[in-house]
Amino acid sequence: MTKETLTITDNRTGRTFELPVTHDTINAMDLRQIKVNDDDFGMLSYDPGFKNTASTKSTITYIDGGKGILRYRGYPIEQLAEKSNFLEVAYLTMFGELPNQEQYDKWAYEIRHHTFVHENIKRLMEAFRHDAHPMGMFISVVAALSTFYPEARNIFDEKDRMKQIVRLIAKVPTIAAFSYRHSRGLPYVYPDNDLSYTGNFLNMLDKMTQVRYEPDPILARALDVLFILHVDHEQNCGTATMRVIGSSNTDPYSAMAGAAAALYGPLHGGANEAVLRMLLEIGDVKNVPAFVEGVKKRERLLMGFGHRVYKNYDPRAQILKSYADKVFEATERNPLLDIALELERIALEDDFFVERNLYPNVDFYSGIIYQAMGFPIAMFPVLFAIPRTVGWLAQWVELLNDKEQKIARPRQIFLGEDERDFVLMENR
Ligand code: SDX
Repeated sequence: MTKETLTITDNRTGRTFELPVTHDTINAMDLRQIKVNDDDFGMLSYDPGFKNTASTKSTITYIDGGKGILRYRGYPIEQLAEKSNFLEVAYLTMFGELPNQEQYDKWAYEIRHHTFVHENIKRLMEAFRHDAHPMGMFISVVAALSTFYPEARNIFDEKDRMKQIVRLIAKVPTIAAFSYRHSRGLPYVYPDNDLSYTGNFLNMLDKMTQVRYEPDPILARALDVLFILHVDHEQNCGTATMRVIGSSNTDPYSAMAGAAAALYGPLHGGANEAVLRMLLEIGDVKNVPAFVEGVKKRERLLMGFGHRVYKNYDPRAQILKSYADKVFEATERNPLLDIALELERIALEDDFFVERNLYPNVDFYSGIIYQAMGFPIAMFPVLFAIPRTVGWLAQWVELLNDKEQKIARPRQIFLGEDERDFVLMENR
């Protein structure tokens, strides 16, 4: 019978320690007993960027980076993208099981009837310049919502907590659409609660003088699939931020504003915007080889490529690549797709990328599709934040229910100055 332990010998003292192994993991706190002197603090592990550190146990999303597997609550992303819809996947992610018809109808009704925001939110958005980045507006408004719902601080009252979860999932498309309309100098369009989640989003984005807006079903479905693909992705930077902020027991609006701020970064959810700007800069397929050479010389990153977990093709990128053609039937073929396909062809053959396991990730194709659908590039990270709201909230609830969790407070290796006395100005 093999022993589920790790034996460590500290060669500084000759002492041996036996650490229990569970889920192929050791508990970092078990390292603290390893000391040279009894009054030492004890051993730490050093892991910048948390490349090899589990911060939580979770049952929400499973990723196998080597095999390119992604499952929400055990269901493969490919099946969910093909057979489900965003609100159903949101229910699954939040509650752990697919809803029956009655559960689904109640959930969809709840979400569709909390889409309005307080009228003061419009005045708050008026304070932004016309060219304010919509993600900056999104983050600000989400944080501001915490002031409209003070009961959100009752995070351990399940009824109050669920009310905020429904409000956030329901209102993020409204906030996104209002920020888009603000940037275009157009009047805000109020939600139409008889439309689907994505149909209503298109309505609030595009409605002009029509008495009633009829969303294009192909585009509404394409958005639904895009939203499904972006719902959750285990402990990514934005979700880890949601958990770190949530671990101080703050309200979900404040925690989610921080998560959205992390997502905004070009190395994370802001990569879809950066991909488009990269493709526009390349401008023509004939310029791709020179651009790739620049990447290999470390002059810049190939945005939309690489991933901390996937060392194979991101399954979401596979689905998006196949979906692009469907969207282009309803819009028009995006010429940038040819540049993207050439970039991918070269990268998948070139040792520089192959040796580093750099494959297209979810952000590589999503931007091309969003642009073909008419979204301005600056809206792309907001389009990522809308569906990821579900993942952030599901992970936040899991954090609150996890008795092993404590306030996040990492340690450090101090390499600074030893104690020294203050020197008066005249003596410096
Ligand atoms: C998302 O975590 C998630 O799950 C995120 C996400 C989600 O759903 O939440 O999947 C969404 O954020 C997708 C990633 C979007 N970001 C980009 O497309 C930006 C470009 N990608 C890189 O910045 C990078 O690949 C990261 C940030 C995504 C991953 O970085 P890692 O894991 O820290 O890897 P690394 O920086 O250590 O890179 C390893 C090597 C390095 O070369 P060497 O120093 O070893 O020689 O690969 C190189 C890097 O320089 N490299 C790249 C590259 N990505 C990594 N070189 C050129 N272009 C790139 N894109």
